[in-house]
Parts: sequence; C-alpha cells; structure tokens
Amino acid sequence: MWKYIKKYLFFAVMAGLFMIGEVMMDLFQPGIMNRIVDEGVLGIQSGSAGNLHVIWTLGTEMIILVLFGGFCGSMNNVFVHMSGQNIGNDMRKDCFRNIMTFSFRQIDRFGAGSLVTRVTNDITQVQNFVSQFVRGMIRTFLLMFGSIFFMFRLNHKFGLIVLCAFPFLVGCLGICLAKADRLFVKLQIQLDAVNAVMQEDVSGIRIIKACVRELYEKIRFSEKNNELTRTQLGVLVIFAFMNPAVNALMYLVVAVILLAGSYETGSGGATPGTIMAAITYTTQLLNGILGLVMLFQNISRGLVSWRRIREILTAEPELEDGAFDGRTSARGEIEFRDVSFAYPGSGQMVLDHINLSIRQGETIAVMGVTGCGKSTLVSLIPRFYDVTSGSVLVDGVDVREYRQTALRAKIASVLQKSELFSQTIAENILWGKPEASEEEVRAAAVTAQADEFISSAPKGYDTVVAERGMSLSGGQKQRISIARAVIKQAEILIFDDSTSALDLKTEARLYSALKTASPKSTKIIVVQRIATARRADRILVLNKGTIEGCGIHEELMRTCRTYRDIYDSQMGEERENHG
Ligand SMILES: Nc1ncnc2c1ncn2[C@@H]1O[C@H](COP(=O)(O)OP(=O)(O)OP(=O)(O)O)[C@@H](O)[C@H]1O
Ligand SMILES: [Mg+2]
Repeated sequence: MWKYIKKYLFFAVMAGLFMIGEVMMDLFQPGIMNRIVDEGVLGIQSGSAGNLHVIWTLGTEMIILVLFGGFCGSMNNVFVHMSGQNIGNDMRKDCFRNIMTFSFRQIDRFGAGSLVTRVTNDITQVQNFVSQFVRGMIRTFLLMFGSIFFMFRLNHKFGLIVLCAFPFLVGCLGICLAKADRLFVKLQIQLDAVNAVMQEDVSGIRIIKACVRELYEKIRFSEKNNELTRTQLGVLVIFAFMNPAVNALMYLVVAVILLAGSYETGSGGATPGTIMAAITYTTQLLNGILGLVMLFQNISRGLVSWRRIREILTAEPELEDGAFDGRTSARGEIEFRDVSFAYPGSGQMVLDHINLSIRQGETIAVMGVTGCGKSTLVSLIPRFYDVTSGSVLVDGVDVREYRQTALRAKIASVLQKSELFSQTIAENILWGKPEASEEEVRAAAVTAQADEFISSAPKGYDTVVAERGMSLSGGQKQRISIARAVIKQAEILIFDDSTSALDLKTEARLYSALKTASPKSTKIIVVQRIATARRADRILVLNKGTIEGCGIHEELMRTCRTYRDIYDSQMGEERENHG
C-alpha cells in the first residue's frame, strides 16, 4: 500500500502536523481551566476571593486556543481527505487496468460480482482506513499518552489511578477486535455473494420473468442478504457491548479520582481546579480510547479489504504477451498443428489432436452438432485461451509469440453471443475501426445487411442502443456486430454462428456482399445450415473435438456420416415445410 501512500505523502504529513496542533490545544485547555477555577474564581493563591482580571486574561487565552485548535482540525480534515480520496482513485484505476488484462479464466475465477465489490466497496474501506490511520493514529495516541502525562504533572496519585485502569481498557479492546476481525473477512465475502446474485438477476431479468422465477430469485437474494445482515449485526453487537464497557471503566476511574481528590483536598494535596482538570483529562483519555476502537475497527476492516484488492493488483496476466509485432509477408494463413485443448480446471479434452491449415483468402465453414467444440476451435485463433498441447499458427507464427494486440489487430471476430454497448449504433460499429469515416460505417452496415433497418429508425445511426443491446432484436444485434467486424478490414474474419437469427435470404445476401467487400480476407464461419456452408470453399465437420471430415459438399456426402446426418435432418425439415 506504501506505493499509493508514498505519492500523497505530503498531504498525509500536513494532515499529521495539523492533527498535532489540534490535539495539543485540547491538552492545554484543562490546565488553563484549572487556573481559572483556582486563581480566578476561588482566588486560592492570593487567599482572597476571585480575581476577575485573571478570569478575563485566561478566558481569552482559552478562546484563542479553542479557535486555533478548530482551525487545525479543519485543515487536518482537508488534507486527510486529499490523501484518502486520491489514493482510492489511483487504486480504482489500477484495479480496472489490471482487470482488463485478465484472461477469461481469471474473470471466471474472481466472478463479476466480486470484482465489482472489490473495486467499489473494498476500495472505500481502504480509503477510510487511510483517512482514519492518518487522522486517528496521531489523535488517539497523542490524546491518550498526552492526557496521562498531563495528569501525572497535575497530580501523581491521579496519574497512577489512570495508569492502573489502562491495561484493562486495552485488554477489553483487544478481545473485541479479535472477535470482529473474523467477521470482517466474512462480511466482504458475503457482500460479494449479494452483488453476484444482484448482477446475474438484473442482467437476466427477462429470463427470470419468462421462466416465472421471480419468487425463487427473491428467496435466493433474501438468503444472501440475510447472511450479510447477520454478520453485520454480529459486528455491531460486539461494539455495542464494548462501548459501554469502556465507558463504565472510565467512570469508575472518575469516581476513584473524586474519592482520592476528597482526601487530597483535605490534606492540601489538590485543589478543586486540579480535580476538575483531572476529570477533563480522564474524559479526553476516554475519547482517545473510543477513537482507538474506531481506529482499529477501520484498520482491521481496511486490511481485509486491502488483501482483496491486492489479489487483483498482483494477479499476473495469465496469457504472457509475446514480442512479435505481427508484421509478416503472409496475410491470413491459419494452421492448427496437433492441437488439443481442455478448458482450464476441467480434465476433459474439448479438442483432440486437430490438424488443419487454412489458406489466405479461403472461406471455411465449420459444422457439427452442438457442444462439439466449434466455438472453442475458433476462440484459439485470437488466443482467448492457450492450447493445452500443439500450436496454433497465424501467418506461420505461433499465436503465443505475438503481442496480443498485434495478433488481434489481424482478426475480426463476431462472437456467438452478440454484445453491444450502450452507445449509438454508429459508435458501436466504430469499435471495429475508431478512425473510420461515416461512409465506411455505412458501407460496413450495407455489407452486414443492417443499413436498411438502421436508416429506417428515427435517429438512424445515432440511435442509442440500450444496455447490452436490449432494445434490438437478435438478428439486428447480430448484424450490427457483423458490421463492427467487417469495418475492421482484418485479414482474418471469424463468424461464430453469427447469422443464426437471420432468414435464409438475408443470410445469402450477406455472404455474397461479404465476398465482394472483403475478397482477400480469410473467413472462418461457424454455421448451422448446409445451404450456407455450401457457399464456402471447404466445409469442416467436427465431431466430439475431432475432425470427421473436411472438403466440399459432394465429397462429404460420400465420406462423412455426421455431415450426411445433418443434411438428412435439414432436408427432412425442408420437405416438411414444403409439404
Ligand atoms: N468456458 C468454458 N469452461 C468450461 N467448459 C466449457 C467452456 N465453454 C465451453 N465448454 C465446454 O466445451 C465443449 C465445447 O463447447 P463449444 O462452445 O466449443 O461448443 P460449440 O460446438 O460451439 O456448441 P454450439 O453449437 O452450441 O455453439 C462443451 O462441452 C462445453 O460444455
Ligand atoms: Mg458455439
């Protein structure tokens, strides 16, 4: 954490100095009060009645002290927040930057809910921790030790009384904090769980309604929430009992001082003013100790949160970046050399010894039953995952040797699940090529067969897409995603089942437009329909992670059983439709 504090050390030091000023003013006050009572009101020194002049001068002195103390307090607050807020801001940005480098696996491992809690709530806890540390540490310790010191100076006996009570107070604190610390860890984990359910349910609200799952989800959310509340209450109860316990101990001390004071006054060892000042010091000590409670509460909570933030900050990117900048003579060749792949954490091979080479400019259709590994196969090309064995080469170079940005600059992907962002349609398309002109955006949309519906919308390309593209139909979203990929003019185009929501005619128009618009790019298209696959140069048939056949339609009809099965089922469907 030092790395972050170091940057704003000046603010922290200034805050500390002003804090010292504030506390010193607090500590001087009882001494003056003592003199006002003894010299001014009772006139003990002069042996006569009160002295108005002394009251005036000491009173003015005290007001100046209070004002100066207040000023120091305000300045301390300003500097404390300047350090705390800036540190939080830096941490949030660093966390976000690191999350952006995470592999898909790392994102899955943390969970979106937990990442959100860490970047928001946990950082706030750390911010509080830093503020409290800068403010509270100096204040409480100065106040505690200062009041004990001044108490000794005032009267040794009173000092001893307070000192005897001190270990009991600290012991009481220690026990409570030890109990609370475990709960703080639990609290943050439960907060993760609440956020995770919240996130999943809000983004999936349509499915919840479609499946009439509202009640179940309400119960699931309530359970997580109740767990959180129980822990929260546990913490509050501990502190609810601790505060009065500390208070009671302190008032016991006050009572003992009064008792000792009555003997002392009798023997001339103390004056009423001294007793008054002693009681004020005792309350200051109490304040110091209560501050310590708050401080340790914040520190232990902050440290728990800091450990969680550190997990994000220190997580190494799992996909190590290569050094190759992607400048090759070849453009758009792909080769799978004996590639096997299992998803991290699962032992099951999803791809099994795949050997395949794809020429520049070739269009290859990938087919196979659901779950056979089509999406997995294409996700290895932009290196969304690393192969378990073998290698994937793009333009003759292993994808692991590329800088990831260089590799992905060569590839435009349309994922199976189209995701858009809550910006205008034009801005969404521009993601593919930020510097593109308006004409290019339109041309890409024309190729993707999206221009017609976009232009007929009242705001056209400036229509703002609702969050995650919820305001568009499935087919519309797919076509905008395709336009976003087409505009990039990349060497390799990957369509993962990206035209499934389009009718046959639109799909056919799209592929012929694509052929004209990007004739040189290598195209890998995962498709469901034989009619679409036949337009490709070659068709690859996957079966349980292995290549069962690769060639043109007629060839596959003769040699590949899975392909024939797909053909038969689709022809059967067509006959039924015509019949
Ligand atoms: N992130 C993941 N973690 C673990 N296993 C996964 C993951 N994604 C997919 N799988 C598994 O890998 C296998 C292949 O999945 P893949 O998505 O490649 O199939 P697909 O051929 O694209 O299917 P579909 O036609 O339904 O899109 C499936 O058995 C699936 O359960
Ligand atoms: Mg798939």
